Amino acid sequence: MPKRIVISKLGGPDVLKYEEYSLPKSIKKKEVRIKHTAIGLNYIDTYHRSGIYPLPAELPVCLGMEAAGVIIEVGADVSNFKVGDRVAYATPPIGAYCEIRDFPEEKLIAIPDFLKDDEVASILLQGMTVEYLFERLYKIKKNEIILFHAAAGGVGLIACQWAKSIGCKMIGTVSTNEKAKLAKNHGCEFTINYKEKIVSEKVMEITNNQGVPVVYDGVGKDTFDESIKSLSTRGLMVSFGQSSGMVEKIDMHKTFNPKSLFYTRPSLMGYTLNREELLNCANNLFEKMKNREVKSNIYKKLKLEEAQEAHEILQSRKSVGSIILEP
Ligand SMILES: NC(=O)c1ccc[n+]([C@@H]2O[C@H](COP(=O)([O-])OP(=O)(O)OC[C@H]3O[C@@H](n4cnc5c(N)ncnc54)[C@H](OP(=O)(O)O)[C@@H]3O)[C@@H](O)[C@H]2O)c1
Repeated sequence: MPKRIVISKLGGPDVLKYEEYSLPKSIKKKEVRIKHTAIGLNYIDTYHRSGIYPLPAELPVCLGMEAAGVIIEVGADVSNFKVGDRVAYATPPIGAYCEIRDFPEEKLIAIPDFLKDDEVASILLQGMTVEYLFERLYKIKKNEIILFHAAAGGVGLIACQWAKSIGCKMIGTVSTNEKAKLAKNHGCEFTINYKEKIVSEKVMEITNNQGVPVVYDGVGKDTFDESIKSLSTRGLMVSFGQSSGMVEKIDMHKTFNPKSLFYTRPSLMGYTLNREELLNCANNLFEKMKNREVKSNIYKKLKLEEAQEAHEILQSRKSVGSIILEP
């Protein structure tokens, strides 16, 4: 029988349990059966596990939003894929932490020949996130200075490379000097160790007191105030995650009115609304990888059964780049 990771209650990494399960007897007409080769770990998995984000299904639930693998069976009405195709996905329905699963063909992406399965599983969700953040939500420009938090993380190291490829000068925040070096090596123009320096003061120094036109903040609670202070007049606050915890209640008027700021709380799902958007987003990422402007950064590979340890590492701030689980 195949194995998977499930949670039967919300909580810390210890609620992740490895168990056997049965596959449905038959495949739905528009789904394919995938044998996973690599599973991507993402911060959102920790939000689902702890309950910060509501779970889209009743407990017990198999977590995970991203994986790569090979198709071993297809439903009767599947038209774009066949047995043997290498495929990946980075969207709901959740349930990627397993050896074999059924998945709707409309959300599947074919893996290009020049990429390996583990590369794709490590970058698809985080890379498509950078694509919509930098190319569509707000289009970053050559020589523009922007602020991006947690620049040495999974999303962060991709952001460093993507900004560099455009000639945009990214200010990246990090918690250690080693992470600062890594972010710089990936193309981040300026770094700020936010454990040592006040972010907005450094940003104002770098921008001649103008502030930045956009802040990308995936850290949340601990960085929100400094992000707002770092923005220029009519700047855009992009609050795209909360690795330090949810931003607490804010006073809308006091926060946004003095500088006429804009605020958005986007998600990748909102920027891959249909098949065309999904494929364009993935193809833009693959193009960047083909041109060697963006590469994947696998920090660690763990076995699927070691999902607990993987979650602990991600939340301990020890990791740089991406973590994958191998079934
Ligand atoms: N909205 C979307 O579409 C979307 C899509 C993908 C990801 N995201 C968000 O993007 C963010 C980054 O995701 P990721 O998977 O690439 O994770 P990650 O950046 O690899 O890991 C999170 C990083 O956040 C920083 N951090 C700051 N305070 C922290 C704290 N108290 N506890 C833990 N970490 C803390 C750490 O970097 P330092 O040690 O350098 O501070 C840590 O390495 C997450 O918030 C995630 O939810 C959003």
